[in-house]
Amino acid sequence: MLASSASPFRLEPHATPVEAVTRDARLVDPGFGKVFTDHMAVVGWSSADGWHDARVVARTPLSVDPACAVLHYAQEIFEGLKAYRLADGGTALFRPDANAARFRSSARRLAMPELPDELFVASLKALVAADRDWIPAGEEGALYLRPFCIASEAFLGVRPATEYLYMVVASSVGAYWKGGARAVSLWVSHQFTRAGAGGTGAAKCGGNYATSLIAQQEATERGHDQVVFLDAAERRWVEELGGMNIFFVHADGSLRTPPLTGTILPGITRDSLIALARDAGRTVREEPYAIEQWRADAASGRCAEAFACGTAAVVTPIGQVAGPDYAFPIGDGGIGPVTAELLAALAAVQRGRAPDPHGWRYPLP
Ligand code: PLP
Ligand code: COI
Repeated sequence: MLASSASPFRLEPHATPVEAVTRDARLVDPGFGKVFTDHMAVVGWSSADGWHDARVVARTPLSVDPACAVLHYAQEIFEGLKAYRLADGGTALFRPDANAARFRSSARRLAMPELPDELFVASLKALVAADRDWIPAGEEGALYLRPFCIASEAFLGVRPATEYLYMVVASSVGAYWKGGARAVSLWVSHQFTRAGAGGTGAAKCGGNYATSLIAQQEATERGHDQVVFLDAAERRWVEELGGMNIFFVHADGSLRTPPLTGTILPGITRDSLIALARDAGRTVREEPYAIEQWRADAASGRCAEAFACGTAAVVTPIGQVAGPDYAFPIGDGGIGPVTAELLAALAAVQRGRAPDPHGWRYPLP
């Protein structure tokens, strides 16, 4: 039996890792999701053997059968979290247990095997240990970890696969937005929706993102940064962005964010910001907000600020909102004081500059 401190992941180090000078050049301005590290973590699953063969190996293209189930029926889930350099020189993850739990919940919705939380967290630890030098310096620098699981069985019948591959890749990242942190403009999609009742909106599965792309494309073509979706039943209630949750700040300093009814992703950043805002004495309501109310409140000043949030984009102020026949600014179109306060509070916990009363930081050895 393994000692409790021993990793279940076997390390097969890369024979020819990227040279330090080349790596360091890539870390200067990495952008988001373009620079990848030397290694990846892999675990197999089969109905006969369960989870097996946990390893960290050289990152390399996969070879899969063209009939591999994920390629046809999109049986796939993923996660996203970051490893941060701490103020004291250490490294930490942020709430990996929450990502592990959401990964299991996504697996249940997609009829996939649930990866035990210990194996999920161990995979992150093992990969970061192998690729620690890929964490960029600087306030926005982090190692973005992308755990995912695919149905790897070659079979064209429509049923849950009997074989899966769990993997983690890591990407050295800076700011999510080109040009660095700034207020973004949103396009409200009145035509396309992201998720309906009973669907997969609360699961982090690739299919949700595939169906969001046409609306995102429309947003981009119209000169906006991101799409924001309305609910599928009434096309009225603001839900979330393609890859971020949304908050509204009222003039009295209280916050509002759409409730978790099964159609939006239960964001870990969302949950953390609710806690931090309440810690600071603010009222936070998880209540629906209608697009026409948002318009009216933005015009009257009752909605003073709005921001998007997620692991990749952290806390991003929303400056402008537009739909097919309307457009309105939020506040003065820049970052508001409550948004700035919450961003600073979250970043300080994530990067080890503030106490961590909720026990969210997960220091890595
Ligand atoms: N909503 C969607 C659709 C997302 O893809 C993400 C990103 O992960 C989020 C919200 C924010 O979730 P988290 O804060 O856990 O990163
Ligand atoms: C994240 O914030 O981790 C996301 O997954 C958003 C996007 C990159 C899909």
